Amino acid sequence: MNHSTQGEQNWWRGAAIYQVYVRSFADGDGDGTGDLAGVRAKLPYLADLGIDAIWFNPWYPSPMDDGGYDVSDYRDIEPVFGTLTEAEKLIEEAHTLGIRIIIDIVPNHCSDEHPWFTAALAAGPDSLERERFWFRRGRGEHGELPPNNWRSRFGGPAWTRVTEPDGAPGEWFLHLYSSRQPDLNWTNPDVADEFEDILRFWFNRGVDGFRIDVADGLVKADGLPDVTDPDGPLPYSDVDGVHEIYRAWRRIADGYPDRRIFVGEMWLPDPARFAMYLRPDELHSGFNFDFLSCPWDARRLREVITATLATHAPVHAPATWVLSNHDVTRHVTRYGRADTSFSFADRQHLAPTDRELGIRRARAAALLTLALPGGVYIYQGEELGLAEVEDLPDEVRQDPVFTRTAGADIGRDGCRVPIPWAGDAPPFGFNTTGTAPWLPQPAEWSAHTVERQTGDPDSMLELYRRALRLRAGRPDGPIEWLAGQPSGVLAFTRGDGFACVVNLSPGPVPLPAHREVLLASGPVTQTLPPDTTVWLRI
Ligand code: GLC
Repeated sequence: MNHSTQGEQNWWRGAAIYQVYVRSFADGDGDGTGDLAGVRAKLPYLADLGIDAIWFNPWYPSPMDDGGYDVSDYRDIEPVFGTLTEAEKLIEEAHTLGIRIIIDIVPNHCSDEHPWFTAALAAGPDSLERERFWFRRGRGEHGELPPNNWRSRFGGPAWTRVTEPDGAPGEWFLHLYSSRQPDLNWTNPDVADEFEDILRFWFNRGVDGFRIDVADGLVKADGLPDVTDPDGPLPYSDVDGVHEIYRAWRRIADGYPDRRIFVGEMWLPDPARFAMYLRPDELHSGFNFDFLSCPWDARRLREVITATLATHAPVHAPATWVLSNHDVTRHVTRYGRADTSFSFADRQHLAPTDRELGIRRARAAALLTLALPGGVYIYQGEELGLAEVEDLPDEVRQDPVFTRTAGADIGRDGCRVPIPWAGDAPPFGFNTTGTAPWLPQPAEWSAHTVERQTGDPDSMLELYRRALRLRAGRPDGPIEWLAGQPSGVLAFTRGDGFACVVNLSPGPVPLPAHREVLLASGPVTQTLPPDTTVWLRI
């Protein structure tokens, strides 16, 4: 069994999944925002790249307060992106090319423009409509203080006070994210029923799986107690009842004859708690953020890889490997810094970064992730070697993180800039009308276009293409560390004579005995230069 031919039912276990942030992928209608027409036109590009599936960030109607993670209708397509009919065509066309489709589902919260929330506001206190959310009276003599001390993950309090229909200041509602993203109350059966129906709606349209947004957050601790220890268990994350929801969802997915899957977004400190979501009757997989956050350091990476595999083994779930996504600083930028780790607590905005070093390490990291057992996620633009755009002017920034923290956290716009396809000047083929993209692209991206990189054997794009092709034909065997390597070197085999060697030490190291160099992230001779990965036949 190899990556591409492993049983149809097991396609997800070793899949290479490409993340499309629709707004920034390709703009088919030329209005400056990416759309489904753009994606459809680029499907041949994705097929040629060699990916197995696409994960779409939310494509539903949305006021776009949080880039679509504020959904106002879960059963339609955002009009700026296209129509439901186009989505159906896209799914079909992708399937014809052998590409599966995973879409984002956002069950923790909806948009303040969702009909349930507008109805809840209108219906007033103690109404059934308000029970679908977390409305509470405030503390303090006149209810002027938030009901508890929870903080929004985007900064500021997690509660906003509403004005009641009679014009008086009234109840507060909970929002773990922006104030335009009210949290849904999962103790209310309407909510569970609604989402189960939404799953079926899209499964019936051929969607192969869902990426679950904030998968750990749906259940809140009884009584909504204050946070007493910010480093201890949180009353709004990883509360036990959440597993019941996913067992019900799994039954729905398993009701389809061909395999439909879930991948959960859980940022959890405890790997054992993380693994609980991947038990055989729950989610199929989860994003491995420990790997993403890990510094470019051989010992630390080896620890994370070993721990990841150990965490997944007892629940028989495949690991996933992620370097970047739409929430984090692009890894070309991270890996060029003195501190190469990632943390939401400090994005290290504008910390000096060595671009060449970042690219070299990103190439090495790509071959590392693509050699590891399990699934891999590729965030659009990483195959082009794009760096974080750190110098966006404040007035174009759209991420609520930036506004809610008054700029103390620069936010995530810098990894969401529309990607360059062709040409020497913006919009670099993002559209053909020349309309300015919704976020400005740096002039230096002329060197990073798909057009420029295609056919250049030294380009990042051709590295990804070759690596994905080789990976697809390779056995997905277990990893075994090669003994006796110099310090700073990661080296492992995968069965069937395949070895991957990564040099994270400051000097060149000798290559292990081998029969053939299959692929390398940089020039290799008898030795492997620093920050270089090689795939060998041994
Ligand atoms: C997830 C998404 C992020 C979004 C947040 C709230 O973390 O990845 O982009 O802002 O959830 O929905």
